[in-house]
Amino acid sequence: MPVLLVNGQRCEIDAPPARALLDALREDLGLTGTREGCRAGECGACHVLVDGRALASCQTPLWAAEGREITTVEALPAALHEAFEAEQAAQCGYCSAGMLAAAAALLRVEPDPQEAQIRAALDRQLCRCGAHLAIVRAVRRAAAALRVGAS
Ligand code: FES
Repeated sequence: MPVLLVNGQRCEIDAPPARALLDALREDLGLTGTREGCRAGECGACHVLVDGRALASCQTPLWAAEGREITTVEALPAALHEAFEAEQAAQCGYCSAGMLAAAAALLRVEPDPQEAQIRAALDRQLCRCGAHLAIVRAVRRAAAALRVGAS
């Protein structure tokens, strides 16, 4: 039985090791903030943090996630959520969980990213609503808030 560390909690999953992390998060653990989009590793909607890096949970089997620290959108810093809300950085919101995960991964390694860095970090996240400009602003706003919080 695979054992995961999700949002700081140890979770035993009654499922085959080949089950996708996305399905375990949504269906077995009830963490439905992570979205299923293309299910082919192309859209970024299902991205979660795995040891601090944004990865496609639809392409990650449970056996590959065992022993690693998994963080879903539900446990990302409030400053990120607040910045996206303040900048109205979502229209339909379907991409938001993946966007937030990618932004969190970037801000872990670059606390004061320039626009080009943000664009590069979010390059794998698709947003059909075209909210990218607001999303870039939101990441910069979150970065500023997190820097203030850290000082
Ligand atoms: Fe996983 Fe699209 S649903 S990348």
